[in-house]
Amino acid sequence: CSEDRIYRIGVSQCSSDDWRTKMNDEIKREIMFHEDAVVEIRSADDDSKKQIADIKYFADSGFDIIIVSPNEAATLTPIIKEVYERGLPVIIFDRNIIGDTYTARLGVDDVGIGRSAAHYALQMLGNHPKAIEIFGLKGSTPAEDRHTGFTKEFIKGGGEILESAAADWNKEDAVPLVDSLLRIHDDVDLIYAHNDRMAIGASEVARKLGRDIKIIGIDAAPDIGIKAVADGVLDATFLYPTEGHRLIRTALAILKGEPYKREVCFPVSSAVDHTNADILLLQNETLRDETEKMHILKMRIDDYWTKHSSQTSLFYATIVI
Ligand code: FRU
Repeated sequence: CSEDRIYRIGVSQCSSDDWRTKMNDEIKREIMFHEDAVVEIRSADDDSKKQIADIKYFADSGFDIIIVSPNEAATLTPIIKEVYERGLPVIIFDRNIIGDTYTARLGVDDVGIGRSAAHYALQMLGNHPKAIEIFGLKGSTPAEDRHTGFTKEFIKGGGEILESAAADWNKEDAVPLVDSLLRIHDDVDLIYAHNDRMAIGASEVARKLGRDIKIIGIDAAPDIGIKAVADGVLDATFLYPTEGHRLIRTALAILKGEPYKREVCFPVSSAVDHTNADILLLQNETLRDETEKMHILKMRIDDYWTKHSSQTSLFYATIVI
């Protein structure tokens, strides 16, 4: 390929929320360090049909690689398989597809997160706790895996799951659902939600109804989950790594024929709870400050180059005249 080749990377997010904003920020930060690459991020806003259209757009507009977090595994698998088999490299991250028609996958051990959440709940609640599980979107792999890991471990440890119902990753769906479930069950010790947004909704309902229930979520995005733990809204959350910079590095390694790992599974963190939420928020604040400084530096460098190149062309123009 020619020396001034610019790689075009398409990122298809299934959704827009704080967790994904954090990941998108990491992607945009990483791309600043690669002058030979540009990125376009599209969000399907939880609509699998829109996500299929986004993937087609990237494939038909000459993008060199597509990075996808598929909303639902079964619905998104055919289009991903199609573009991959046409020869376009595809990286899958976070949510998975069915099968392995992709170039690389970066995921998280969601079964392990579910297991850790169960373990934490059993330690916190002691003998025979009773739980309600608020499921993410059925058919999206993290929800299925977080359910599997939690259920096995919780039941093995003597816990009982009274109900398991889906709120599709949304607080708006979790609130009425939890409200109706808590009116049916008066003996709930724990609400385990597959993400923090739903867990926060559950916590609000439990408080409104005057119920003393422990609440666990997943994601630990600083402004949502960790803050909710620090404020006492949630009892614990588990870190769901975003690692946006690694997606860009993997994409460029694939495009440049450099070595990369085809399957990456990020390990599970220990719980974020009242013992560490404040320090994690502080660290995040520091990271945010440093990032802000990097943006300022980048703007100064760009500014310098613009001025420098216009002065250089003026100089050459003067000589020619
Ligand atoms: C964000 C999200 C997270 C969840 C993840 C699972 O869009 O809903 O809350 O952990 O997706 O894929």
